[in-house]
Amino acid sequence: MWSALRFGLLPALKLYLLGFKVLLAQLLNKPLRLPVMPRQNGKVAIVTGGGRGIGYEVVRQLARLGAHVIIGGRDEQEGLAAVRRICEEDKEAKVEFRKLDLASVLSIHQFAQSFKERNLPLNILVNNAGVMLVPEGRTGDGHELHFGVNYLGHFLLTWLLLDLLKSSGEHGDAARVVNVSSSAHSIGEIRLNDINSSYHYSAHAAYCQSKLAQVSFSSHLHQEMQRGGFRVNSCAVDPGMVNTALYCHLWTPLRMAQRVIARLFFRTPAEGAVTVLSAALSQDCKGGYWSNGHREMTSPAFDPGLELNLWEVSMQLLGLQSDQ
Ligand SMILES: NC(=O)c1ccc[n+]([C@@H]2O[C@H](COP(=O)([O-])OP(=O)(O)OC[C@H]3O[C@@H](n4cnc5c(N)ncnc54)[C@H](OP(=O)(O)O)[C@@H]3O)[C@@H](O)[C@H]2O)c1
Repeated sequence: MWSALRFGLLPALKLYLLGFKVLLAQLLNKPLRLPVMPRQNGKVAIVTGGGRGIGYEVVRQLARLGAHVIIGGRDEQEGLAAVRRICEEDKEAKVEFRKLDLASVLSIHQFAQSFKERNLPLNILVNNAGVMLVPEGRTGDGHELHFGVNYLGHFLLTWLLLDLLKSSGEHGDAARVVNVSSSAHSIGEIRLNDINSSYHYSAHAAYCQSKLAQVSFSSHLHQEMQRGGFRVNSCAVDPGMVNTALYCHLWTPLRMAQRVIARLFFRTPAEGAVTVLSAALSQDCKGGYWSNGHREMTSPAFDPGLELNLWEVSMQLLGLQSDQ
């Protein structure tokens, strides 16, 4: 009984309460608008999960600014339809779709390998794809779905593309890794002794853990890049509450209410993309945590020991070596 409360009901209550607070704050803020951004001609960007939702709007805007954008996604039809729509809107747009399933280590390796073989630079990597409140399940490699897709898959993708990011960053124009996290990270807890939620599964806690893991990864990666003198910035972003299909796994009565509320009060996907694009394109991006269109003055405080532990556990789970 106590364990059902602690591991089931409590994380759900905390997440819905946080959602309510975030929505209130969002309503009191001015609507977000994308500021004028510099042209991105000659730049190459990868956006995971760019076939719909926030990711689609990020791809659309990057392409409009002249970047060559690759959508990495698992649904080919959705991805190709997104490419078609963007190219119909802007005949000059350079957008393509490549298959990437973040729930499969093999697929991530294949995506990264085929990208590297093209000898393109990589200026912007947007780790956007995500799942929320999915029923208990495992990736092809045995990891809990939120942890595996939202965090570990992006960790591996970034790791495999890191050399390319390092060589593409220029003085005054560093390459970017933008991790699309969420305010839900603030109530997350990283349970290193049960990272795959094998003992107690709560979809709510698993989502929050994955979003906290992304923020922690982002911060650690940024510090590593600065220490090594590499021109790569890594930041984490909260897009706000955005009306997308992410909420499709909510409990049916809640989903019905959420649909109405979302239509009236949530950000549109285009508004949700504003903070992601600001982090990806602002000339003064120096890592950190971004929300409501700008870099927050105070980034979430971390236990550096936990950050390092999570990094090392992730390397182990993926069979990676630091000197690779
Ligand atoms: N919407 C919000 O209120 C909100 C708030 C905070 C943070 N976020 C974050 O924003 C990001 C984008 O979410 P969204 O709101 O735009 O949701 P969305 O419309 O559901 O988009 C999620 C994208 O991720 C892709 N994806 C899911 N699993 C994948 C996998 N295994 N491999 C590759 N791609 C996969 C989906 O593609 P498929 O068609 O293949 O499923 C879809 O393109 C997420 O990281 C989310 O956590 C959203």
